[in-house]
Amino acid sequence: MKRLEVALPGRGYDILIERGLLAQAGERIRAVLPRAAKVAVVSDSTVAPLYGRSVLDSLARAGYEAALFTVPAGEGSKNAAQLSELWEGFMAFGLTRTDAVVALGGGVVGDLAGFAAATILRGVAFVQIPTTLLAQVDSSVGGKVAVDLKAGKNLAGAFYQPRLVLMDPDVLDTLPLPVFMAGMAEVVKYGCIWDEGFFDFLTARPSRQGSMADIEHILYTCCDIKRQVVIEDELDTGLRMILNFGHTLGHAYELAGHYVEWSHGEAVAAGMCAAAQLGVGLGVTPPDVPGRIARACAALGLPTHISCGLEDCSAAIGLDKKSAGSDITLILLDAIGHAVPCKMPRERLLAQVAALPGHGKESAT
Ligand code: NAD
Ligand code: GLY
Repeated sequence: MKRLEVALPGRGYDILIERGLLAQAGERIRAVLPRAAKVAVVSDSTVAPLYGRSVLDSLARAGYEAALFTVPAGEGSKNAAQLSELWEGFMAFGLTRTDAVVALGGGVVGDLAGFAAATILRGVAFVQIPTTLLAQVDSSVGGKVAVDLKAGKNLAGAFYQPRLVLMDPDVLDTLPLPVFMAGMAEVVKYGCIWDEGFFDFLTARPSRQGSMADIEHILYTCCDIKRQVVIEDELDTGLRMILNFGHTLGHAYELAGHYVEWSHGEAVAAGMCAAAQLGVGLGVTPPDVPGRIARACAALGLPTHISCGLEDCSAAIGLDKKSAGSDITLILLDAIGHAVPCKMPRERLLAQVAALPGHGKESAT
């Protein structure tokens, strides 16, 4: 069993990583929530049939009364209507302030269930059991919980830390390949921003099979990095921004593809490659870095370049009528393994982006 502690004052918690951990969920939760009687398990329509029974049985063995709340799989469930249904469902189940909510699923379920837990009865204990690679290395750790609004993603939310994170690498075996590889883009990101040795370790394992052979080490390393970042900057006012490496242009690519053509992970992979090129142009990033990142992404089957019209780039950079003129912080690398936030006027960044191949006016989609 690998164990990491997210040592936040007064709300610290453990991340446990072990194959087969799902079947021990009840006893592990009992150890941190001895007084809880009821547990509301939130999952989605894909994950619940795969892993719901195992978690419910384990909770029952640990003496909990547990109920499963299933939402349709996909980002479309991360909204206020689904949140409201969960609130009503929790009340009908008789959840009290000493009880708990468990998120069993990917980042969608984690964000939605976490926000439901943060807000029902002014906050009940919350446990994350992430089942995608992205959720294991990123969204289940650090306490960002949210739903999407029509105006944009994650616009209604909170910082609400879980009481425990249980990671069972075996659940990754049932992930579709593109979902697994989308998580690998975030894994590569940790190597880029924090640990060159880890980056090299990943490039030596450029396949799903190779990554799964060392998955405990990969999960541990990513969560260890995220844990350190979150402990230093829980509320995302400084260091935590480095986790956005590749995400500024990644968001532009997602927008350009109407959130259908490119997954978040694919967009982030191409966004990291573009950010490295921008960094070279700005004199921050050594010239060999873009090629190294591109080779790492390409080896995993992730895109290294996505064409994007300037309009979508402007929207992602926030250079619209509401925010024109203010600065933006772009995350660049001054080496593989070290990220530096670079503040610059949005107009300057857009001019740099426009000079990237495939990002000019002629690329508008
Ligand atoms: P997701 O939760 O939609 O899961 C992707 C797909 O995989 C879904 O269809 C799901 O049903 C399926 N799935 C999940 N686990 C499975 C398994 N073990 N086997 C088979 N299928 C499985 O998407 P995601 O990529 O996990 O998360 C994306 C979400 O996470 C976005 O909403 C994003 O905003 C959010 N996010 C949050 C944070 C944070 O810090 N809170 C960080 C990054 C991303
Ligand atoms: N996924 C970015 C963060 O947790 O801050």
